[in-house]
Amino acid sequence: MALFVDSSDPKEIKALFSWGSFSGVTTNPLIISRESPGADLAEVIREVLSASTGDVSVELTTESEEEMMAEAVGYHAWDPQRITVKVPFSEVGLRVLHRLRRREVKTNVTCLMAFNQAYLAALSGATYVSLFSGRIRDMGYDARPVIEATRRTLDREGLAARIIVGSIRHLMDVNEALEAGAHVVTAPPDILRKMVWNPRTLETIAEFNEAWRKRSGPR
Ligand code: E4P
Repeated sequence: MALFVDSSDPKEIKALFSWGSFSGVTTNPLIISRESPGADLAEVIREVLSASTGDVSVELTTESEEEMMAEAVGYHAWDPQRITVKVPFSEVGLRVLHRLRRREVKTNVTCLMAFNQAYLAALSGATYVSLFSGRIRDMGYDARPVIEATRRTLDREGLAARIIVGSIRHLMDVNEALEAGAHVVTAPPDILRKMVWNPRTLETIAEFNEAWRKRSGPR
């Protein structure tokens, strides 16, 4: 299992990667528009790459097959080892995915809300399949069985795709996704910081340090 940072903010990414707990970054056009309005995408991703290690997902924003291919090839050239082209799921997306696979470009098929979509993407050779936990729940469905069925099928059929669960809204979504079989959970910085915080831990450390301060004798 692994945790990725769902952000395009190089400062946040650098701070979080200093913990040593994270092994990749995911971005999307909405995240980049919010965090770096008006910024040059190549510059943002260059900074993200230097602030992190592991795979960095960059999403396609065009909609026709040839435009998507040209966009994908351009992103891939920024760092062929680490750039993972995020392909929005659709019929066109599957065709693009199939072509990128033949060029050995890493891919992350995104905006998946259902097992059947994730299965198709895995069969077409996706490196990652991204299930959107929060958005599945927004529609009134439970994300857990979708993650479980996808993991069971990938394992049973020996498919190489790894499941990323994104669209994380609460700390419990991280725990649930990992337990349900996600290979990777990608979460925004505020949720990743909540994973650290526990009032009983803070209280206990304060109690220990207070005892040490009051202790007489050599330190
Ligand atoms: C990650 O890869 C996704 O793009 C992201 O987690 C989507 O999150 P949202 O549903 O909060 O927009």
